[in-house]
Amino acid sequence: MLLRWVAALGRRTDGLHKGTRMPQNTLKDITRTDLAALVKVSLALAETLDIHRVMQIAVEGAVEVLDLDSAAIYLCDGDHIILGATTPALPADFPQQYRRARVADHPHLVRANAAAQPLFVPDVRQVELSSAEQGVMTARGIRSVLFAPLVSQGNTVGTLILGTSGRTYEYTADDVALSRALSALIAVSVVNARLFEEAQRAAAELICAYDSTLEGWSFALEMRDADTLGHTERSALLAVEMAASLGVPHRDLPQVRRGALLHDIGKMVIPDAILHKPGPLTDEEWVVMREHPKYAKDLLSRIEFLSRAVDIPYYHHERWDGTGYPEGLAGEDIPLSARVFSVIDVYDALTSDRPYRRAWTRTEALAYIREQAGVQFDPAVVEAFLTRMDDTRSS
Ligand code: C2E
Ligand code: SIN
Ligand code: SIN
Ligand code: FE
Repeated sequence: MLLRWVAALGRRTDGLHKGTRMPQNTLKDITRTDLAALVKVSLALAETLDIHRVMQIAVEGAVEVLDLDSAAIYLCDGDHIILGATTPALPADFPQQYRRARVADHPHLVRANAAAQPLFVPDVRQVELSSAEQGVMTARGIRSVLFAPLVSQGNTVGTLILGTSGRTYEYTADDVALSRALSALIAVSVVNARLFEEAQRAAAELICAYDSTLEGWSFALEMRDADTLGHTERSALLAVEMAASLGVPHRDLPQVRRGALLHDIGKMVIPDAILHKPGPLTDEEWVVMREHPKYAKDLLSRIEFLSRAVDIPYYHHERWDGTGYPEGLAGEDIPLSARVFSVIDVYDALTSDRPYRRAWTRTEALAYIREQAGVQFDPAVVEAFLTRMDDTRSS
């Protein structure tokens, strides 16, 4: 990679930027020591995809490689530029208006970027500066300055600005070659970091969109059973809290929530005649009803976003003693999130009116949960559940 940049440098013979003093540079101007320094910066840049870290490493690396006093990076943002990083750090009284500025107020930077060539001002006192430029140079104590456009694949993404303070400085051919190599390196890293940020933002937005869809499904499922409106949301909240307190890793909690919201999605395929039957189910009807976790798995495992949320929908009717369905798993073979959810689900079912029976009282339902510890339910989950229910009562 580095060799490709270096080769590209060698091909450029147009090192002289109109109207400025800029020595020619060729491949031979980059020494072995320079190469080693560039590789070091390159490795440091490769360590992170955080745009702010990338820019900070870049300015610090640039000052070190070129043995100068200060460096800054501005990123292009339409017709504005944004100050991304500086070294040394900006003085405390650095005017806020210079952090994001109109590009037109920085004519030297504009010229460098337009030509896609470094532009060198040996002594800022000897040239005409705009008031914004004057302000920044004064605030940062800059004497000589080099503007190196950050160009990646033909796009100027920003500008690296190198400077001395309290001394003028004539840039050598070597410095120019180095600043070109550095700005090429930095431009690639900045672009990568930006792409990564965008990809992350897009992924977050996609997750948000999926989650809204899923909340909609969950609501639609509840509508089919008007008595239970609002219960699914409450059960999902409780499931996430209890799963967290019983040791489900933090990163898995969104899956717990999604699984809980969709726990009975498999009931979509259960005919109303069975689902809403006002009495006990026949053996044949039970066969159909017991299929609902399998339908859920078939459905969810096809959806990449939900495939890891399948544990609760698939295993919430397993029993601790191994007599549940669909797999007949026992004890800790049942995923923890499903062991947690089954207690919440049964409590909720018992305390709700069902077509086949009236709601039980809170006391009756809690007594049933307690009695089923170690039979239907994980005793540790029952204990956590009962403690929570005590807390809710007394609060
Ligand atoms: P559901 O009504 O949401 O009930 C979920 C779970 O809560 C049940 O899973 C069961 O473990 C517990 N549960 C609910 N009601 C009672 C009850 O009256 N007594 C006891 N001891 N436990 C109860 P299960 O048994 O696997 O049932 C799954 C689903 O099958 C139920 O979901 C419901 O939709 C349906 N179902 C169950 N029994 C009947 C019934 O007698 N008639 C009708 N029409 N549907 C039934
Ligand atoms: C400028 O204002 O154009 C550059 C000054 C700097 O930040 O080094
Ligand atoms: C609910 O009561 O919120 C739904 C639970 C279920 O249908 O199993
Ligand atoms: Fe169920």
